[in-house]
Amino acid sequence: MRKPIIAGNWKMHKTINEAKSFVEEIKGSIKETDVEAVICAPYTILKDLKEVTKGTNIKVGAQNMHFEENGAFTGEISPLMLKDLEIDYVIIGHSERRQYFNETDETVNKKVKKALEHSIIPIMCVGESLEEREAGDTKSIVKSQVEKGLEGINHEDIKKIVVAYEPIWAIGTGKTASSEDANEVIAYIREVIKNVSSEDISEEIRIQYGGSVKPSNVEEIMNQSDIDGALVGGASLEPKDFIELVNF
Ligand code: G3P
Repeated sequence: MRKPIIAGNWKMHKTINEAKSFVEEIKGSIKETDVEAVICAPYTILKDLKEVTKGTNIKVGAQNMHFEENGAFTGEISPLMLKDLEIDYVIIGHSERRQYFNETDETVNKKVKKALEHSIIPIMCVGESLEEREAGDTKSIVKSQVEKGLEGINHEDIKKIVVAYEPIWAIGTGKTASSEDANEVIAYIREVIKNVSSEDISEEIRIQYGGSVKPSNVEEIMNQSDIDGALVGGASLEPKDFIELVNF
């Protein structure tokens, strides 16, 4: 059985005080559930978030990291620095990073490997653009992203990774892939993973959907056979919505 994982991606939102009051508001309502709840926050908030979530079921993630452990990389954060804060998860290869910060499948692969090496669970993002979808290329795009992202990673490590399928056209637009469509692509991703590892691993690995997930559609999405979670942007910023998402 794959444990469902609902992760909020706060992107470039919230100050330390805002994050603290957010956790204060939600912590009593994130029930003892079988759902894993994660908040992926800006670097400046991580230390405080770790502190205020202590003793709760809420895990903390970063939104990116460098693949080198240290060096002359002005403005970057290394896996050792995240490990220092005992960060549980790190988003790797979000489409916004691919689009605005030159993230490539190769850097994604290096970062996923580094995160695993330091026991930080990578949430590896893949997904097609609107043009690619309209050209009928969705499957070939996600296949190539998944294969390149997982290249050279041993099978036992692959199953620790969380993959997030986020069609770019559904991010922040209010347009969601229909839950059947999302499920179909995610089932296909599972097939690709089976081919690069094994059937057992493809059955164990967790794959999320991301793109305009909100309290009103989360249940339907989570009811799909191959979808194990959601990576949520906008709707993860409001305490009330986050509670509803996790308690879908
Ligand atoms: O990583 C989550 C994300 O890109 C989806 O954003 O605002 O459409 O839920 P949103």
